[in-house]
Amino acid sequence: MINRFAVVLAAGQGTRMKSKLYKVLHPVCGKPMVEHVVDNISQLEVNHTVTVVGFGAEMVKEHLEGKSEFVVQEEQLGTAHAVMQAKDALGGQKGTTLVICGDTPLITVATMSALVKQHEETGAKATVLTALAEDPSGYGRIIRNAQGEVERIVEHKDANEDELTVKEINTGTYCFDNEALFEALDNVSNENAQGEYYLPDVIEILKKKKELVTAYVTEDFEETLGVNDRIALAEAERIMRTRINREHMKNGVTITDPANTYIDTDVIIGSDTVILPGTVIQGKSKIGDGCKLGPNTEVHNCEISHNTTVQQSVLSDSAVGSHVKIGPFAHIRPGTNIQDEVKIGNFVEIKKTSFGKGSKASHLSYIGDAEVGDNVNIGCGSITVNYDGQNKFLTKINDDVFVGCNSNLVAPVTIKEGAYIAAGSTITDDVPESALAIARARQVNKENYAEKLKSKK
Ligand code: UD1
Ligand code: CA
Repeated sequence: MINRFAVVLAAGQGTRMKSKLYKVLHPVCGKPMVEHVVDNISQLEVNHTVTVVGFGAEMVKEHLEGKSEFVVQEEQLGTAHAVMQAKDALGGQKGTTLVICGDTPLITVATMSALVKQHEETGAKATVLTALAEDPSGYGRIIRNAQGEVERIVEHKDANEDELTVKEINTGTYCFDNEALFEALDNVSNENAQGEYYLPDVIEILKKKKELVTAYVTEDFEETLGVNDRIALAEAERIMRTRINREHMKNGVTITDPANTYIDTDVIIGSDTVILPGTVIQGKSKIGDGCKLGPNTEVHNCEISHNTTVQQSVLSDSAVGSHVKIGPFAHIRPGTNIQDEVKIGNFVEIKKTSFGKGSKASHLSYIGDAEVGDNVNIGCGSITVNYDGQNKFLTKINDDVFVGCNSNLVAPVTIKEGAYIAAGSTITDDVPESALAIARARQVNKENYAEKLKSKK
């Protein structure tokens, strides 16, 4: 089996993005562009992946930790110079080297592997992945000779009028014979419009040495989009989103309006789940079968089990069981664990709370830092008073407790099993099992007082 290596170019600042964030870290459908590239490479049989990062690009390393090795390109002198930084790691070894830019997140595993296959089958020293672009501006153009062979690549900024009309573009992805690549790199110069060492020049160098250089033309230009500015970033997001939504629909998820449904790359969704318009599902979320999410619902890093309904609500970093009903207008904040058959109604906020099976908070509640047992009913307007301005305290509400409307449970406090809290109570002491706690002023009725008030007018 042939050795395979990959070099990912990710050291460029990305000036055209006008951003403090390294270009390749800008996310597309929730995942940094460069991580899409590295994750795809990991699905090919590659022995070593080396990512070229800029000086001080600690964040790039953090994102790719464990998925790639790194070399640093201290100064960004061009794509050829970037690949040269991998010489210590890869130079002198026999094999195929896939070079790919960290700013082309849409190139699929299928295309990468077709490129590698063609390269290895033809025995070429270099195979460049090209595409036909309706609007090729900004891209390097593929210049072929009279026989139709790839002769060289000319950058947009260096191209003459004739060359600018060429629609076949360099996608920035290549396969090289590893030894031929590093040999040729030594001969790349920076005498061009940008004063940079261009990797595409390797093609011409190899061709002049009468080596076999070919192209693999992919039919899908969309896939090869290079993200250089925020306009292309939005375009990449749209293409990736369409792809993700189609994949879910193929797997049995109903998405009523795919153009208005935003699902991150690594989200998992079960079959017969229905996603209504305006819904955003992010991060490592996992949604079970037969759920109904939306409209206008945000789910960040949540695990939701089966047959659960979430309407017009926001959920973050939490777990939700099956047959649960949430919303409309609920806010489930980090650290919440909602068990099966729960109902969380409108204007209810829950934070860092376990909420037991069959329990309900149907209207206008705040439950924070609490342990709520099974079959608990939290009445309208009741809240946990969990914060004294300095510290947060725990409220425990055991199984089968009934909390009457508009109660304040001042933590730390425990309401034991089966107890009742009278409506309007402010509970500061623990309530024993099966007790009724009433903590409010008694009502006083002043007979005929209304008449008196009226006569004063
Ligand atoms: C590059 C190609 C162009 C191709 C296009 C495809 C060159 C000279 N041109 O142009 O032919 O059509 O990609 O999208 O290669 N990088 C480094 N170090 C550097 C410079 C760049 O690591 O010194 C990295 C960048 O982070 C980026 C990638 O290389 O991920 C490509 O660089 P970029 O400046 O975006 O090249 P393009 O102008 O798009
Ligand atoms: Ca680019």
